[in-house]
Amino acid sequence: MSDKLLEVRDLLVRYESRRGPFRKPSAVRAVDGLSFDLRRGEVLAVVGESGCGKTTLGKAITRLVGASGGSILFDGRDLLKVEGSELRRMCGCFQTIFQDPYESLDPRQSIFDIVAEPLLIHREASSEAELRARVHAALEAAGLHPAEEMARRYPHMLSGGQRQRVSIAAAMILEPELIVADEPVSMLDVSIRAEIIRLMLELRERNRLTYLFITHDLSLAWMIADRIMVLYLGKLVEIGGADEVIHGALHPYTQALVSVIPVPEARSRSGQILLKGETPSPIDVPPGCRFRARCWKCAELGGPAICAEREPEPLPAGEGRLVACHFAGTHL
Ligand SMILES: Nc1ncnc2c1ncn2[C@@H]1O[C@H](COP(=O)(O)OP(=O)(O)O)[C@@H](O)[C@H]1O
Ligand SMILES: [Mg+2]
Repeated sequence: MSDKLLEVRDLLVRYESRRGPFRKPSAVRAVDGLSFDLRRGEVLAVVGESGCGKTTLGKAITRLVGASGGSILFDGRDLLKVEGSELRRMCGCFQTIFQDPYESLDPRQSIFDIVAEPLLIHREASSEAELRARVHAALEAAGLHPAEEMARRYPHMLSGGQRQRVSIAAAMILEPELIVADEPVSMLDVSIRAEIIRLMLELRERNRLTYLFITHDLSLAWMIADRIMVLYLGKLVEIGGADEVIHGALHPYTQALVSVIPVPEARSRSGQILLKGETPSPIDVPPGCRFRARCWKCAELGGPAICAEREPEPLPAGEGRLVACHFAGTHL
């Protein structure tokens, strides 16, 4: 068995966007040529500013959006090529937990029905008694006690934290190998975030799960992830061990993100780096380095021609690290 659960290669996801009724649709390059591996049993955090393609990546992996190119090998099989009953079977191996527990639960379904649904779709329970037992066990495992009473409730009768526990129970019931968690705590009160995170990490231990953990919160990524992958405009900027990325960021973009997180020891000696300007549109991705217009290092170096001319590809930069910058290096 390979230690890689997922191998993503040159993944492209494009949306069509119409900027006006009389304009031709243009392509939004949401994920724009992304390659990385997910190791069995690890938590890989995907970070980056809003709009950099995190959600789209998670949806492409779980087949909620189609890809326009590349491949996603799951246990060696290309997820983008499987269809029909095989796809249904494979879908049991990966599940998603979404950001908004208010939106992702159908208000008309009881908690029992929500959690039982994946089992019914996958025809995994052979009797009513088994269905009941498995739903109750999943609710208990997600910290919803007493399960029988919780199962009778409806989403509006639960708190935000409890709803996210229901999403977790529903995601876990088919005993998946991979969980794609898309900002699973960002809509929750700060006081219950830690509980939900603890639950997710406990379930990881107990069920040998692998997580792709999407978050815009770099300090949360640092706390829970084994590795961190930073995206900018649909491309990989930097990837590496969580401690290495936080304490020794090599890409000017990562360095800027790290410099403003509320963890004093992670800050660079020269203080905060405030990025100017806005991320360019993924419809008109600039040539050369796509971060160039906002790059403090490029500015400090007097705007080297190579940054405008050549797109930097992710290159090895030490043990398990990749960095996509012509001038990657530790902070000045
Ligand atoms: N359904 C869609 N149609 C057109 N553009 C989309 C759609 N969904 C997302 N986008 C665009 O794709 C880019 C990536 O979005 P998203 O994956 O949601 O990023 P993130 O989760 O990092 O905020 C953004 O520019 C966003 O506006
Ligand atoms: Mg998102």
